[in-house]
Amino acid sequence: MDELPEAVALTPTSFRTDHRTADAEAELASLVFVLDLQAANPAVRRLRAWARDELAARPGDTAVDVGAGTGEEVQALASLVWPTGRAVGVEPHAGLRAEAQRRAAGTSATYVDGDARALPFEDGSVDVLRCERVWQHLVDPQEAADEVARVLAPGGRVAVLDTDWSTVVGRAGDPDVQRRLNESTWRRMANPFAGRHLRAQLQRAGLTVRADIGSSALVMPDEVMASPMMVDLDLRLGVEEGVVSQDEADAYRQAVVEAAQRGEGFMAVTMFAVVGDKPGSG
Ligand SMILES: C[S@@+](CC[C@H](N)C(=O)[O-])C[C@H]1O[C@@H](n2cnc3c(N)ncnc32)[C@H](O)[C@@H]1O
Repeated sequence: MDELPEAVALTPTSFRTDHRTADAEAELASLVFVLDLQAANPAVRRLRAWARDELAARPGDTAVDVGAGTGEEVQALASLVWPTGRAVGVEPHAGLRAEAQRRAAGTSATYVDGDARALPFEDGSVDVLRCERVWQHLVDPQEAADEVARVLAPGGRVAVLDTDWSTVVGRAGDPDVQRRLNESTWRRMANPFAGRHLRAQLQRAGLTVRADIGSSALVMPDEVMASPMMVDLDLRLGVEEGVVSQDEADAYRQAVVEAAQRGEGFMAVTMFAVVGDKPGSG
């Protein structure tokens, strides 16, 4: 595994648009590193493939990925809607958008600036829309659900994928320390329990949600937990916030690392994927 860049940024709060460190280059390197790590995780790949099948993008469709990150899912959509359709990634982070554009060179995928709360598309102009792990960053995710319903064409399909951070389970370390760290992370997040609300929010926006809700538990590989940037920042912030002592944080970190080094670690969080249809014929 590559070394994590200096400015480690993996917490659920890292992707907030109002959260920027002074060192934009190091922050971008961290975000890209973490997104690549997650994209390589079999649980993420499985849920993405499932959602792609459900959305069934076809040639001629206009397909959109909201909060596209490094943009690979837009490339996947571009290959499905080609040659007459178009695939657009909406990404407000200029650095991530540039990285997505760089990676998509030679493909028909395009990337634009924009926000889930005010999508840069006409009413009824989008056939397929996906949005992955963005709603956890939104204070009012119902706004995003309403925007999705607005831009979808009759017969259009949407998949919203997001984590519910109440589902974190870890085997190593004091469970009470883990509980306090989890609670402190939730307090820093805009919408920590995004996953459980997706169905209701899409329904309230007027979409018909399919009965089968996808899910996948993202289990962190031991090689990641053996150098636990996943927990380091949370531990630091937990100590700063006073929810755990430095001794508790050190002991927790050591337990996580040692379990991973023995090949006995287990740390997981569950993602959900809700698929909805815009009523009307396409
Ligand atoms: C955890 S990353 C997920 C990126 C990508 N969807 C993936 O699954 O790899 C969250 C993404 O949401 C974007 N984001 C944050 N707030 C947003 C908003 N209000 N509208 C659209 N995107 C937003 C971030 O810039 C970042 O690309």
